[in-house]
Amino acid sequence: MHDDTILTGTVLSFTGSPFDDAPDRAAQLHEAVLIRAGRIHALGPLDTLTAQAPEAAITRHEGCLISPGFIDAHAHYPQTAIIASWGKRLIDWLNGYTFPEEMRFGDPAYAALIAERYLDLTLANGTTTTASYCTSHPQSAESFFAAAQARGLRAAAGKTCMDRNAPAALCDTARSAYDDSAALIARWHGVDRLHYVITPRFAPTSTPEQLDALGALWAENPTCLMQTHLSEQTEEIEWVRRLFPQSRDYLDVYETHGLLGERGLYGHAIHLTERETARLSETGAALIHCPTSNTFIGSGLFDMGRRVAEGQRIGLATDTGGGSSFSMLRTMAAAYEIGQLTGTALHPAQLIWLATAGSARALHMQDHIGTIAPGMEADLVVLDLASTPAIAQRHVRAEDIWQALFPTIMMGDDRAVKQVYVAGRALS
Ligand code: GUN
Ligand code: ZN
Repeated sequence: MHDDTILTGTVLSFTGSPFDDAPDRAAQLHEAVLIRAGRIHALGPLDTLTAQAPEAAITRHEGCLISPGFIDAHAHYPQTAIIASWGKRLIDWLNGYTFPEEMRFGDPAYAALIAERYLDLTLANGTTTTASYCTSHPQSAESFFAAAQARGLRAAAGKTCMDRNAPAALCDTARSAYDDSAALIARWHGVDRLHYVITPRFAPTSTPEQLDALGALWAENPTCLMQTHLSEQTEEIEWVRRLFPQSRDYLDVYETHGLLGERGLYGHAIHLTERETARLSETGAALIHCPTSNTFIGSGLFDMGRRVAEGQRIGLATDTGGGSSFSMLRTMAAAYEIGQLTGTALHPAQLIWLATAGSARALHMQDHIGTIAPGMEADLVVLDLASTPAIAQRHVRAEDIWQALFPTIMMGDDRAVKQVYVAGRALS
């Protein structure tokens, strides 16, 4: 009658943040989860759930961890085909690799091809929601939304806006950025599981007029998220200082133009002043940690311990293709490694929370996704915790779930992803 499904395994449920309490105390483990009409209906022992739903189909994932699907809070799907490009720091990397590739998205067929390829790759890695930049071509956002919609995904994206310091073929104007973004909001925002994100690329590629126009658009559409980059590399910060000499600091550029708010997503946010961190935490804006990117492009070390102590809202992200992996497992591993370099050994519960509930909070989607609890959408990843010989021989020694999970976080890849569920539907 209901098309109920029960999954068995080790079902991971967070009742709070593992940064607030003893990390493992924020988590609860259950034997099974009952899915009804695409949502989590109940958690508990298998016999309790079968009594509740006697006709449910049962799928057994014994020995596996059933986690919320991973949530990548910052990615550039158009950079899929230039991931892992050698040898450059941010500004040369943008000019040498990124902008030429993004120019190809003037062709709608290419945009559609890469959108599909990107979603194939991320789903294979257990990522069920992404907040993605598109290119400056409105069609590139159309392609992404259409592909995500066809797969039933909760997804967020926006047309990238830039009207200076980029090739002419990628530049819009203050007016067209506003008009094209507004048209995309009308077409896609709130349709099915899709969200529009107002997307000024970063301060150096927008004129003050364009930033003003997008600030006004955000004020007119306060349910939209806004995403941009903040203080990723020191050369970039110097450039911003020269372009906006009257601003107190990088964050102040955004604030002056109406682009600082609780629904703001600030990618990287590594090299921050005390004034900036105080404003960010006061505002409740989200800092998006992109650890593989920060090492790959040589940006710097995000100080997680300090940012957590300041009470910042923090999401975790690949930053594909500045980041060097599509995998949120690899991203958690890099976050752990950078934590070690900054004096904070992140607990496995904290790492997986950041990749699920933490990113969901950053994207203001915590009422829909990111935890396994009754009423939440059933976007799930089933992780085989012994997916390779190297991981399996390490896994046999585990004495609790965290010891069982950590080798997969550090060494796992898409082979650890046994199954993915989107709104309760198994993908393969
Ligand atoms: N800053 C402005 N644009 C980009 C981008 O595409 N990637 C990264 N990593 N940083 C940026
Ligand atoms: Zn980025």
